[in-house]
Order: sequence, then C-alpha cells, then structure tokens
Amino acid sequence: MKNIYTILTPELFSLYADALVQKQVVVIDVLRATTSMVVMLENGAERVNPVASLEEARSWGEKGYLMAGERNGFKVDGFDFGNSPQEFTKDKMGGKSVVMTTTNGTHALSLCKMARSVYIGAFLNCAVTCDALTNEGGDIYLFCSGWKGFFNLEDTLLAGAMAASLCQMGAKVADDATRAAIHLWNQAKTDVAGFLSDANHVQRFQSMHAESDLDVCLKIDTSKKVVYYVGGELVTERP
Ligand code: MLT
Repeated sequence: MKNIYTILTPELFSLYADALVQKQVVVIDVLRATTSMVVMLENGAERVNPVASLEEARSWGEKGYLMAGERNGFKVDGFDFGNSPQEFTKDKMGGKSVVMTTTNGTHALSLCKMARSVYIGAFLNCAVTCDALTNEGGDIYLFCSGWKGFFNLEDTLLAGAMAASLCQMGAKVADDATRAAIHLWNQAKTDVAGFLSDANHVQRFQSMHAESDLDVCLKIDTSKKVVYYVGGELVTERP
C-alpha cells in the first residue's frame, strides 16, 4: 500500500528529510514555477535546468543557456525571460537550453536530493503524474513550495487533487496535511479560480497585472508530459 504525505511548506521539510530517502517526491509550485517547467518542455525546450540561486543561473547563462526566472514575481534584470508560462512559446523554446530560478519552486526542488525520484507537479500534468507515481513503488510525498516559507492555497489545492486521484488508484492518506489538502480540493474543485480569487498570490498577480497567467496555471490535464528532475535537469523520460 502506498502512503501519501503532504509537506505544506518548505519550512516543514526538515521534519520529512530522513523519511524521504529513496521515496517519491512531487514538487508543486502552481503559480508559476512548475507550470512554467511543464510549458517549456511542452513547447520544445531541449534542456531545462532549474537552479536555486541567481549566481548559478548566470553561470549557465555564460555557457549559452537562456535565462528565465523571477524574484518576488518580477523578471530578474538581465534575464531573457521572467516566469510567466505565457512567455515560453514554441518559437522561443524550440530546441533551446534554458536555466531557470524562482523565488520558491526551484528552492524547493533543490531540497529534494535524498529522494529516489522527483516529479514536477502542476495542474497541467496532474493525471499523467498520478499515473506515473502509481506505477512506481513506494510512498509519495507531495511537496508544496508555498511562498517564502509560508503556506499557500494553490499548491495545497493541487496536492489535494493529486492525493484524491492517487487514493482512487489505491494509495492511502497517511497524515492530516493530506486529509486537509483533499478537503480543500473537494471544496474548490468545481470552481478552482473562484476558490483562489482572494489567495495571496492571486492578489500579487493583480498588483503585477499578471492575472492572465492564472488561465494557464489552472488548466487541468492539458499536458501528457510527466516531468522528472534528474541530475540537475528536467527530463520527460523516466530515469
Ligand atoms: C515561485 O517560485 O513561487 C514562483 O515562481 C513565483 C512566481 O512565478 O511569481
């Protein structure tokens, strides 16, 4: 029986680090890092290297990688792209190598070195990711990137959606964080955008005039790509 755990913020990650060894982790950052990762690969990027720091990103930039990313939601000076998934179009991504760094999502990813397999979770690729998780053995940890260490609604909603789907495929809820995430998802699933209308990150997007990103980030199962984080880069074939 596969157990499902949910890590609600990176601040709680240290409580799970020992248990995560050789387990499956799904890193979730719906607005917008993991959504952007899936979009980049859907639109033909050859390589995508998520890194935690601006320095690492710039060193890949010096090697010819396109640089994408944000801090506090805003594009980093001197980068080729910010982190709106709408920027990563087929004509801009086709065959390219991209390094990306974000406020929360790539930081969360950098914590997961001890896991056996690390998946990139977004609403876009929810169903295919749950199928792949079910086919691989072992317990599953749904890791919400949050905002600067704080809980956020959107990542927990996706964790709830994935947990509900995994339970239908035979997995078992192992902790109250997952129970709470599923209850949240059941409250929200008929109108996710409406449920999130006053969420902190949505308010930030309104102040940044980036609300249209929500239309992309909240689309469900439009991608058939399972995305793994292996050896510092994103791949779409199971390692
Ligand atoms: C994050 O890391 O939380 C996101 O990339 C933030 C954003 O894209 O605005």
